[in-house]
Amino acid sequence: MVSRVIPVDTFDLVIFGGTGDLARRKILPGLYVRFLAGQIPEDARIVGAARSEFDDDGYRSFVSESIAEFVAKSKQDKTAISEFLKCIHYVPIDALGKGGWPDLAKLMRLDTIRAFYLSVGPRLFGPLAERLHAHGIANDKSRIVVEKPFGRDLKSACALNAVLAESFEEHQIYRIDHYLGKETVQNLMAVRFGNILFEPLWNSQYVDHIQITVAETVGVGGRGGYYDKSGAMRDMVQNHMMQLLCLIAMEPPSTFEPDAVRDEKLKVIRALDPVESHEIVRGQYLEGENGASYQIEAENPDSHAESFIALRTHISNWRWNGTPIYLRTGKRLRARVSEIAVVFKDPPHSIFGPQEGRRGNVLVIRLQPDEGMNLRVTIKEPGPGGMRLIEVPLDMSFAEALGNDGDDIPDAYERLIMDVIRGNQTLFMRGDEVEAAWAWTDPIIAAWEDRHDKPKPYDPGSSGPEDSLMLLHRDGRRWREIR
Ligand code: BG6
Repeated sequence: MVSRVIPVDTFDLVIFGGTGDLARRKILPGLYVRFLAGQIPEDARIVGAARSEFDDDGYRSFVSESIAEFVAKSKQDKTAISEFLKCIHYVPIDALGKGGWPDLAKLMRLDTIRAFYLSVGPRLFGPLAERLHAHGIANDKSRIVVEKPFGRDLKSACALNAVLAESFEEHQIYRIDHYLGKETVQNLMAVRFGNILFEPLWNSQYVDHIQITVAETVGVGGRGGYYDKSGAMRDMVQNHMMQLLCLIAMEPPSTFEPDAVRDEKLKVIRALDPVESHEIVRGQYLEGENGASYQIEAENPDSHAESFIALRTHISNWRWNGTPIYLRTGKRLRARVSEIAVVFKDPPHSIFGPQEGRRGNVLVIRLQPDEGMNLRVTIKEPGPGGMRLIEVPLDMSFAEALGNDGDDIPDAYERLIMDVIRGNQTLFMRGDEVEAAWAWTDPIIAAWEDRHDKPKPYDPGSSGPEDSLMLLHRDGRRWREIR
């Protein structure tokens, strides 16, 4: 199926941190792919801004190398690349001083959408926002995009919000959580609110529990320095998993307008119960055949940061009262899989008598890899000799159903950057959402710090520490296998 591309209006996009890793791996390749698809007009300007002393041509070589490395070969089209490179400019800039700002101002066109992507550490958010205004580069119609981590606790997140608010209105601020740009994550809303089938069952009367798993096979690698100050709770749970939880649990918004959606997400976060220490298991990977231990990679032999976390939480509202939600994420696990499983209750009465080993309906939404949905249903085992029931999957791979291959599923960044240009904030976090998520996270982290909690070791290639299995066993449930 050929996807419909609606071109955006022309724009000037400045990428601060334009020579950084995120720009190289995601932002620039993503922009090229949108250009190739015909979504970006030929007169758009994409301006790299960083400390390095590149000129336009030097930066164009940087961009073309990043395309060669990070764009699928099937999409590397020589003519399109050379056309795209004409949109590329570069300005060496001193984020904390005066250098480069007048040059940047000169590049901006009147009456053109202006977007500023701050792909830099949060300590530069304030100085950059302030200089954009001082040099007349930002105006009322400009948009500013900021990357995670958005703070490391409630206090720092409030401070960042305050600093941005000095120069930009909330409707101009785009806080990125790249999970929201994933095609299947958006599909959560389409599946829930575009079908009548699921919504009547989507509550604690019918749903026994929900499991959200984001398992990775990679370790922290070269990111140990950052990761060791974050751990999985700050790196994954406070943001990505929280967003998944919101989309799966929120009430139907009355429209798909940004604030209607974000209001509902906020209500979910605010209704989350505090998590008690016995409801959390933290882990840290040991050395294995394919790599060093977490502590070696993080270069911190005494590290207490968790590379794995599993927890149980509840949403205290009418819809979800009594339905536990289990979250689990970790690095160096058995397989790379992100999925949400909605596990339904058994029918109230079995007309077939007791059936050994039978399990109920489960709706699994696979976010990656192999995006798709799978519904486990009960049928009769074929053959004579009585009514024996078995479960079979009703399996739907989105790629198969839509007749495209994996390359056609746009990367999260492609979608999100186009939304910035269109001025659509639906898939971006509002300031109060981020603060509410930290308000829930902070006491959990503070409790570990108070009791000097140490993560449990686990073998790489496993499903995490044994204790995480107990978290569900105690409730008479079990995790889905990571595979
Ligand atoms: C990032 C985290 O935000 O998300 C990483 O900092 C993590 O630690 C990554 O590996 C996972 O993203 P994805 O898109 O690969 O699931």
